[in-house]
Amino acid sequence: MSAQFTPSPAADFDVHAIRRDFPILHQQVNGKPLVYLDNAASSQRPSAVIEAISSYYERDHANVHRGVHTLSQRATDAYEGAREVVRNFINAADTKEIVFVRGTTEAINLVAQSYARPKLRPGDEILISGLEHHANIVPWQLVCEQTGATLKVIPIDLNGEIDFAAFERMIGPRTKLLALAHVSNALGTIVPVEKFIARAKQQGVPVLLDGAQGVPHSSVDVRALDCDFYCFSAHKMCGPTGIGILYGRQQLLEAMPPWQGGGDMILTVSFEKTTYNQLPWKFEAGTPNISGAIGLAAAIRYLQSIGMDRIARYEHQLLEYAQSRLRDIPGIRMVGTAPRKAAVVSFTLDRIHPHDIGTILDTEGVAIRTGHHCAMPVMEFFKIPATARASMSFYNTFDEIDALVKALHRTHTLLG
Ligand code: ALA
Repeated sequence: MSAQFTPSPAADFDVHAIRRDFPILHQQVNGKPLVYLDNAASSQRPSAVIEAISSYYERDHANVHRGVHTLSQRATDAYEGAREVVRNFINAADTKEIVFVRGTTEAINLVAQSYARPKLRPGDEILISGLEHHANIVPWQLVCEQTGATLKVIPIDLNGEIDFAAFERMIGPRTKLLALAHVSNALGTIVPVEKFIARAKQQGVPVLLDGAQGVPHSSVDVRALDCDFYCFSAHKMCGPTGIGILYGRQQLLEAMPPWQGGGDMILTVSFEKTTYNQLPWKFEAGTPNISGAIGLAAAIRYLQSIGMDRIARYEHQLLEYAQSRLRDIPGIRMVGTAPRKAAVVSFTLDRIHPHDIGTILDTEGVAIRTGHHCAMPVMEFFKIPATARASMSFYNTFDEIDALVKALHRTHTLLG
């Protein structure tokens, strides 16, 4: 048996009090207490978020930016207030830099179509890495097909880290954008984005970060990072589905054309000519996801009430504990062993198909994700079709990791 990590959560981190804020966690699944370890796919919501959304619908709902009546003004204030909450959360310079979108995927597509497409010429290059989620691959493939540009992929190593030396060889005068995950969803690798950004800046190359797995687990300061675009989704950080954020540096967003046309993104419309609204509304055509923005703001306030640094510290303990306990399961192979990781453990178990692992775990009330995690090139690199992935959040407990380990031992006994 390997040396086991002994958890010592900070005395002021009361996970049981935190769990009381999440109604969904208190249920039985298949006759066992639910152990929810699929947070990288989607996290759960505290009552504060659920109540903020229902209170908005019960009292304040109307369309935004369109009415002089009281409800419309209340809705507008709440929607624009949410933008300020997001700005403050990621330390953007101005709310003009905060665009509400459907999620990370839409944010990246927006940048691909509105920023990259008008600029790219045949022979130009977009750089991504080998650990990207499909959302940070396919939009670039599409824009490369549309423009004749080339997509270049910085390789990863067997730990699941991006090869910085290879990146330094690959970046050059043809590189028009570097688009990287902040944290890998499939492997948990925390990418040292600061050094990639610093090198890209020397070359004058703008940088987009896919922050879907970054923002929920650590404090993010877009100005300190010095990135040009940062994209994330509310549903992975205790907020609602169907809403996310594109942060863009104001100067870049100003120069970009709208990517969808319709109401709210215009100043004037005639059949001859349309003029566009200011930032950020230029990128928000149509009635927006008002309740989503309000729910996201409530989620951010909730996370801030706990503290992102405390969340990161506690989740790191969960990770260390999970890694030390999983190591002792016969036949386990960890996939993604970077020294700096978010609280994600991806693994295979003997020759048992990950879907079978997930199914047996579900009978024990343990929810994990199995499959390629929308990162098929990562699976191809490790020469496996899929992994089982447990992804933890600050409301998980060490006992839940024990429940996972016990269920995996049972799986091994049944199918190994
Ligand atoms: N991108 C999400 C995941 O990693 C869906 O599971």
